Amino acid sequence: MQEKKNIGKLFDRIASRYDFLNHLFSLNIDRYWRREAIREMLRSAGKVSEVLDVAIGTADLSIELLRQSPAVHITGIDLSDEMIRRGKQKAEIHRLADKIDFVKASALEMPYADNSFDVVMCAYGVRNFSDLERGLSEMQRVLKSGGQLLILEFSYPENKLVAWAYDLYFSHVMPFVGRLVSRDKTAYSYFYQSVKNFVWGEQMTPYLKKAGFNHISFTTLTFGISIAYFARKD
Ligand SMILES: C[S@@+](CC[C@H](N)C(=O)[O-])C[C@H]1O[C@@H](n2cnc3c(N)ncnc32)[C@H](O)[C@@H]1O
Repeated sequence: MQEKKNIGKLFDRIASRYDFLNHLFSLNIDRYWRREAIREMLRSAGKVSEVLDVAIGTADLSIELLRQSPAVHITGIDLSDEMIRRGKQKAEIHRLADKIDFVKASALEMPYADNSFDVVMCAYGVRNFSDLERGLSEMQRVLKSGGQLLILEFSYPENKLVAWAYDLYFSHVMPFVGRLVSRDKTAYSYFYQSVKNFVWGEQMTPYLKKAGFNHISFTTLTFGISIAYFARKD
């Protein structure tokens, strides 16, 4: 399966600074986005025991889920060795190592049987997939009937003034600071492009429907800078 060009390598390069820059660029609001997304997902989900975190990275979404629902077991897949290594370290620091299994695998070709998980979740991962339809259909395949999907992503603010500030921040400030701190020339310009070129809000609904999901809804967070999608497999 053809992955977006060297995406795993790109995240390998920025992994050591990923968490620091994430919290810096979002002014720590990303913690609130994860918390709210998980809270709302758990409200709609039935009994949750097995969870798949797709593109788990450094495990922030999984750690938040375990904070709110300590009994679940999580399998996290990712393409980047370095993001996985950092995620494992963080799970150990939080004494959650026995709660999360990290696996190097692609979201586009998951090594799991159909109907394996009660919840499939993915934070800031889907816009990196080289084939969104394929990724969503894999998520639907491994989700149990009645299971719950959560996708957290960046979106684009509707308010024109906020959109203006957003463009300035993400197209100029972020690449500049990202280059300085991560010492990577391209990673943080890639970020802005990947958000600008991606679908958001209602545009995501046909993709989710095509993949076989129902009961689709979304919640925008902080002026629509981030967005949480919820859907179910009947
Ligand atoms: C922006 S990070 C998000 C990490 C984490 N979910 C979070 O909320 O911080 C995106 C992650 O997606 C992973 N990724 C990108 N494409 C992938 C794919 N096709 N399969 C699995 N992981 C992928 C990258 O390696 C990276 O760790």
